[in-house]
Amino acid sequence: MEDKLSGHRGAIKADWDQNQYYAQAEAWVAIFWAEDSLFLAQFRKLNLTAVLELACGHGRHTGQILRLAGVITLVDINQSNIDACRARFEGEGHLRFICNAGNDLPGVADASQTAIFCYDAMVHFELMDVLDYLRECRRVLAPGGRALLHVSNNGENPEGHYQQNRHWRNFGNIDVVRHFADRVGLRVLSHQVFEWSGEPMLDGLVLLEKPVA
Ligand SMILES: C[S@@+](CC[C@H](N)C(=O)[O-])C[C@H]1O[C@@H](n2cnc3c(N)ncnc32)[C@H](O)[C@@H]1O
Repeated sequence: MEDKLSGHRGAIKADWDQNQYYAQAEAWVAIFWAEDSLFLAQFRKLNLTAVLELACGHGRHTGQILRLAGVITLVDINQSNIDACRARFEGEGHLRFICNAGNDLPGVADASQTAIFCYDAMVHFELMDVLDYLRECRRVLAPGGRALLHVSNNGENPEGHYQQNRHWRNFGNIDVVRHFADRVGLRVLSHQVFEWSGEPMLDGLVLLEKPVA
């Protein structure tokens, strides 16, 4: 029998397979990349030699850093999104593509990444999957490597399904993410809470670092 966590993960996966969001979201990518964006201020603290984008969708963020990065690894739970990114970035020799199981980074070598980022996606994930991804970040980051993660700070509806919540934010909490990060061996360099579409304090952004020693 499928366990409850897998059931929620599978439902979230299905929601983001072939969604019209991808075409529409291209229009508001500036939230993340405009000069005054709080995301960009933190993103500039990443070393892009070997960068992994988790939950890449159709690649609107990788499109912004194509000429700034060394090797880019795009990861997503939906094969349709990986296929869309392959088509979008055809001919770009410095990209790798991985379809994963929703809580892992398969085929990514230990200590191989200088940076990981995840925008507008982890806010929807099951909190237990966020914990698994933090462990994976600790594993695949090189010493001194950093992860910039946009997470949910929605404390409502802990037993519910994410679609019942404001802006489909799953149950989450920035301080719990900080705690998880600390306990799996990542240093919290910064953390911010901010509004999303007029909902105060709904989202969070954490910048984490794998210690050098
Ligand atoms: C709202 S879209 C955002 C896509 C992209 N980050 C963007 O901002 O355009 C959510 C993304 O998360 C992916 N996703 C959902 N659950 C996931 C999981 N557990 N692990 C990895 N990716 C997941 C979806 O396939 C989709 O690409």
